[in-house]
Amino acid sequence: MNAQISVSNADEVLRLIEQASEKNFLPIIGPEKGKFLAEEIRKAEPRRVLEVGTLIGYSAILMGKEMDHKSEILTIELHRDEAELAGKNIVRANIPAKIQIIVGDALQVIPTLKGPFDFAFIDAEKTEYLQYLNLAEDKLAKGAIVFADNAGVFADQMGDYLDYVRNSGKYRSRYIQVGGDGVEISVKL
Ligand SMILES: C[S@@+](CC[C@H](N)C(=O)[O-])C[C@H]1O[C@@H](n2cnc3c(N)ncnc32)[C@H](O)[C@@H]1O
Repeated sequence: MNAQISVSNADEVLRLIEQASEKNFLPIIGPEKGKFLAEEIRKAEPRRVLEVGTLIGYSAILMGKEMDHKSEILTIELHRDEAELAGKNIVRANIPAKIQIIVGDALQVIPTLKGPFDFAFIDAEKTEYLQYLNLAEDKLAKGAIVFADNAGVFADQMGDYLDYVRNSGKYRSRYIQVGGDGVEISVKL
């Protein structure tokens, strides 16, 4: 990713990250699945969003540009270098929502966070999705939306998570196929 982005517009920053990802693959949610994420954010109008897996800020910018200045996103990233680049991209995107990046392992960070959150976007280590959700669960408001990326390509690794949101009775959950992958969108009951 070229760190020399010199624009101050969210759409342009998103396009530049997409272009960088075409040259050197970056595991961003991307524009096709991102359209569904943005749509869910627009519908839910969340005040507080929890994101697990910041990378370089693409999805945080995508969500934050749909939110107003009274709302915030807390986003957790394991790697400091990526979190720093995310911080720069987020400043350049100049979006209304406040975004706080927390560097650390989500498994350790989530228990330290104060709820409530009314939206969660999970997009980090696939085998840990269920642990992230279980740690965040009592901080999620009733009706909160939990949006999980890669529920198609990594369905096997996320099997315990998908079984939980679909069959525990605690969520109303649906899968949306998008190209060769998919997203799982679950509403906390
Ligand atoms: C698929 S990328 C996130 C992409 C980003 N959500 C987007 O769409 O632009 C996954 C990120 O999760 C981070 N990650 C993996 N395990 C993590 C953990 N336990 N805690 C926090 N971040 C983690 C990785 O370092 C990586 O940057």
